[in-house]
Amino acid sequence: MGGHPELNADELVAAAREAAEHSYSPYSNYSVGAALLFDDGAVVTGTNVENASYGLALCAETIAVSKAMADGRRGGLVAVAVTGPHDSGDGEPITPCGRCRQVLNELAQLGGTDPEILCVGSDEVRRVALSQLLPHAFGPAHLA
Ligand code: THU
Repeated sequence: MGGHPELNADELVAAAREAAEHSYSPYSNYSVGAALLFDDGAVVTGTNVENASYGLALCAETIAVSKAMADGRRGGLVAVAVTGPHDSGDGEPITPCGRCRQVLNELAQLGGTDPEILCVGSDEVRRVALSQLLPHAFGPAHLA
């Protein structure tokens, strides 16, 4: 898929769901999972981590990007799966929040990729390019 034969969408979504099992979200009760796929086949996951000071919640995607970059990764991001609880409401596919789009863009632009974002809903997995979620993105190239 998308020129990256190693991408198995079902597996990436499963990895995000598994990550969400460790969600620390006692305030929102909204568990989110994120799984980043890299061009070497590695998958790095994250889940949201909330705080008693509500506004300090850390999103799943930001945690995953932070883990990957702390491990030394500076590019190669080809796909991202994001899952939410989807146990109520209309089950619309979850999409990364604005801050997470910017955080994902940093890692993507560093490696010159436009990762496919797999937004998981109750009935569908919506696939959109990061450049569609964050058009005309500001990134490291602007500071070069
Ligand atoms: N959340 C994420 O982890 N990623 C997003 O892109 C949207 C929101 C988390 C933050 C908070 O812990 C909970 O979802 C409810 O907003």
